[in-house]
Amino acid sequence: MECSWKTVLLLVCASLGVQYTAIRTLRDSLSGPCQGSYRCRSRHHGDSRWAALCDDNWMELPRKHILLFATTRSGSSFTGQLLNQHPGIFYVFEPLYHVQQAFTNSSSRLRRTLDRRALLGAYRDLLLNLYTCDLHFMENYIRPEPQDHITSSFFRRSSSHALCSPPVCLEGADATASDLPDETWCPKKCGVLNLTLASMSCLSKRHVAIKTVRIPEVGDLRTLTEDPRLDLKIIHLVRDPRAILASRMMAFSDQFRAWKIWNATGRQPRFVDLSQITSTCKDMTASAETGLQKPAWLRGRYLLVRYEDLAFNPVAKTDEIYKFVGVEMEDRVRTWIAKNTYSNVSAPSEWNYRYSTTRNSRATAENWRLRLGFDIVRTVQSLCNETLALLGYKQVHSAAELRNLSHTLVERRTFQPVT
Ligand SMILES: *[C@@H]1O[C@H](CO)[C@@H](O)[C@H](O)[C@H]1NC(C)=O
Ligand SMILES: *[C@@H]1O[C@H](CO)[C@@H](O)[C@H](O)[C@H]1NC(C)=O
Ligand SMILES: *[C@@H]1O[C@H](CO)[C@@H](O)[C@H](O)[C@H]1NC(C)=O
Ligand SMILES: *[C@@H]1O[C@H](CO)[C@@H](O)[C@H](O)[C@H]1NC(C)=O
Ligand SMILES: *[C@@H]1O[C@H](CO)[C@@H](O)[C@H](O)[C@H]1NC(C)=O
Ligand SMILES: *[C@@H]1O[C@H](CO)[C@@H](O)[C@H](O)[C@H]1NC(C)=O
Repeated sequence: MECSWKTVLLLVCASLGVQYTAIRTLRDSLSGPCQGSYRCRSRHHGDSRWAALCDDNWMELPRKHILLFATTRSGSSFTGQLLNQHPGIFYVFEPLYHVQQAFTNSSSRLRRTLDRRALLGAYRDLLLNLYTCDLHFMENYIRPEPQDHITSSFFRRSSSHALCSPPVCLEGADATASDLPDETWCPKKCGVLNLTLASMSCLSKRHVAIKTVRIPEVGDLRTLTEDPRLDLKIIHLVRDPRAILASRMMAFSDQFRAWKIWNATGRQPRFVDLSQITSTCKDMTASAETGLQKPAWLRGRYLLVRYEDLAFNPVAKTDEIYKFVGVEMEDRVRTWIAKNTYSNVSAPSEWNYRYSTTRNSRATAENWRLRLGFDIVRTVQSLCNETLALLGYKQVHSAAELRNLSHTLVERRTFQPVT
């Protein structure tokens, strides 16, 4: 690990040296005071390239490195938008996808040497590089390999305002101000992505936020929380595992064929895979327990957020998140919430579109109760009983209780940030 961090540091320094001229040009061309900043520490001052960067006082402005730490189908696209809509935040949607793809597709000889720890190490390396705005680092993982720092394969680029608006995309000037562009809009209008421009855009923003669903436990992030170059703020997003399962069944129906048969027949097929939801629950519990123990390395850095609380009370909860992160909430965020939560569109649209965020948030949060057979619910409850108890989700004991939406299954709980 020690060795790999040194390598990363070298890479960062080298690429910063190369990019310094570009950054300088960017800063000179910006109208206002440049808001980007690195946290510099004395240990880098021996390196003249770092010294040159650290001399400038704009580097000292407090830059927040926000991590939306979530699991698949836990409401993270929606929650991510609450950060993406902020004009001062450079937001990236699941960059670790590329790392996982590259690892999965690597030759078997290579794969044997790449164990879980190596993958987690690669995840952390990429996060660190993105937090310091080196988007070129992504080129190690994006396939097909970018040429001249240009790619058309950046995963879910459209989910990031900054990657679809100036200076990255001049065409995006007007259209992105209001809403999230749909999946095809951005590549069609903006063409290929220039990663140098993306890095510059990142440097020009005050803060960086990254959403990921690929880190198993908050403990896997410890070295990043302790890294003096970062001021990491972890938003741990959790959701009722029964809702997560229902949502996964709808979104990934091929993968969940056996579950769907179970749901339709009320009988558990022999070949149904219980391991995925079990490990989701195990990871969620482990992370929440770590947070509740308030270890020193999470002090000021960890906030547990239940998606249901956010859906029931989006404005207040978003306020809380911004307070924790230490960033002023902006009107554009409030406007986006107003438009995308208590909409009176009759049917929640989550089910029509895999990654949709436009929905009646309250209805969607409880919607799973009408979409899962009681038998499945009972099984998940027994697999995930510790998780449900820890996070304040009530178990149901009959189908009638499950379907009766007039009583909620979400207990009142307050989860304070770790201080
Ligand atoms: C990995 O392999 C799969 C299946 O062959 C393919 O669909 C995918 O595009 C590949 N990903 C990368 C990053 O090469
Ligand atoms: C990408 O953007 C940089 C910075 O503006 C520019 O110098 C470079 O030529 C661009 N690359 C391509 C292939 O257009
Ligand atoms: C939502 O409600 C507002 C005010 O009650 C109404 O003007 C609007 O047409 C409604 N929108 C939809 C999509 O029903
Ligand atoms: C489960 O079955 C019910 C009908 O019995 C159906 O309405 C629902 O959509 C199904 N849920 C999933 C996740 O497929
Ligand atoms: C969860 O279930 C296990 C096995 O049935 C049991 O030992 C444990 O006490 C339960 N935990 C809670 C919090 O209900
Ligand atoms: C639903 O729950 C409420 C409150 O717990 C209860 O008063 C009501 O009778 C229940 N409705 C049905 C149809 O069971």
